[in-house]
Amino acid sequence: MMAGQKKTQTKLGLISEASRAEIDRWIAKYPPEQKRSAVMAALRIVQDQNKGYLSNDLQDAVAEYLQLPPIVVYEVATFYSMYELEAVGKHKICVCTNISCMLRGSDEIVAHLNKRLGIKLGETTKDGRFTLKEVECLGACVEAPMFQIADKYHGNLTPKTVDEILDGLD
Ligand code: FES
Repeated sequence: MMAGQKKTQTKLGLISEASRAEIDRWIAKYPPEQKRSAVMAALRIVQDQNKGYLSNDLQDAVAEYLQLPPIVVYEVATFYSMYELEAVGKHKICVCTNISCMLRGSDEIVAHLNKRLGIKLGETTKDGRFTLKEVECLGACVEAPMFQIADKYHGNLTPKTVDEILDGLD
């Protein structure tokens, strides 16, 4: 390579075969010129593949795979709270503290989680098992107060049921 020549490195290899197959299923739902419509799904898929968070390289890989400028992918990844840009614990507990949950006792739930896990909102336990995250309304106000772990919602929480749920996790 000549001096001053920039080497373009592909990051596509970071996306596993299984993830590619899943992303392709999403791409197929849209017209060929609208691959970008699959960007949210693609980010979720590679995040799951990468223990729950998106590295810069993985975001670049998604941009490459969907043939988008990287900035388009960065904008999506930084806008939505479901994407993590740093490593998270094995179990990410997303606690809703929005109005309905607040009125129904989310403060008590957060305080209980703080005490039990020894971490504050936005932190991860030292053993890497739990991350505690504050989120906006998850659309489950009817069961307030609630939190989400993986793809499961847990509602009508009390300190007792919180303990039962956490005790049941691996
Ligand atoms: S306010 Fe908590 S789910 Fe809506």
